[in-house]
Amino acid sequence: MLDLMELVLLVLPAWVANAVPVLLGGGPKLDAGAKAWDGKRWLGDSKTVNGLVSGIACGSAAGAVIAAFAANSYLPGLDVPAKVGLAVLLSVGALFGDALGSFIKRRRGMPPGHPSLVVDKLLFIFVALALALLVYPNLWSALGWEGLAFVTAATYALHVSFNWLAHALKMKKVPW
Ligand code: CTP
Ligand code: MG
Repeated sequence: MLDLMELVLLVLPAWVANAVPVLLGGGPKLDAGAKAWDGKRWLGDSKTVNGLVSGIACGSAAGAVIAAFAANSYLPGLDVPAKVGLAVLLSVGALFGDALGSFIKRRRGMPPGHPSLVVDKLLFIFVALALALLVYPNLWSALGWEGLAFVTAATYALHVSFNWLAHALKMKKVPW
């Protein structure tokens, strides 16, 4: 039987890492304003240093708090330091996947904010999980295809709700 609570505790660092830059992003652009071979920006104005740093820091911190207070509720095979390591990997992967999405959108000529189902809303979680699975292959026994399907659906639903809310609160230009 799929343990949904376990899956949520597992992927929460990636969700936090992806959401926090909307609140704390800013400062220098990750691509420093530089253009790629096609004359378009490498990543664009939406990818900032503050966003990258705050996302990784808060995602990792969230993972550390979860590991400290709910260690027995998920991934029994991993000790607390490994759970924190996992949260760091998920956070780095989430931000890397998000930037990869921007890179792909810029190459396809889409401006920042242009909606794109997979690239915008789901790529970050797939890259985060891929990086985590690379280092902790045993994670797959907790996830599996069913778990992956649940995480994908939950990520989509959360992403849509969070961005709608961020837009309503005037923290984001577009509601997606
Ligand atoms: N953000 C940031 N730094 C990052 C990632 C995100 O500062 N590394 C912030 C930016 O303020 C951005 C917001 O989070 O506007 C939302 O990110 P996202 O939806 O990924 O940006 P988009 O405007 O959709 O741009 P893109 O097309 O490049 O995804
Ligand atoms: Mg976007």
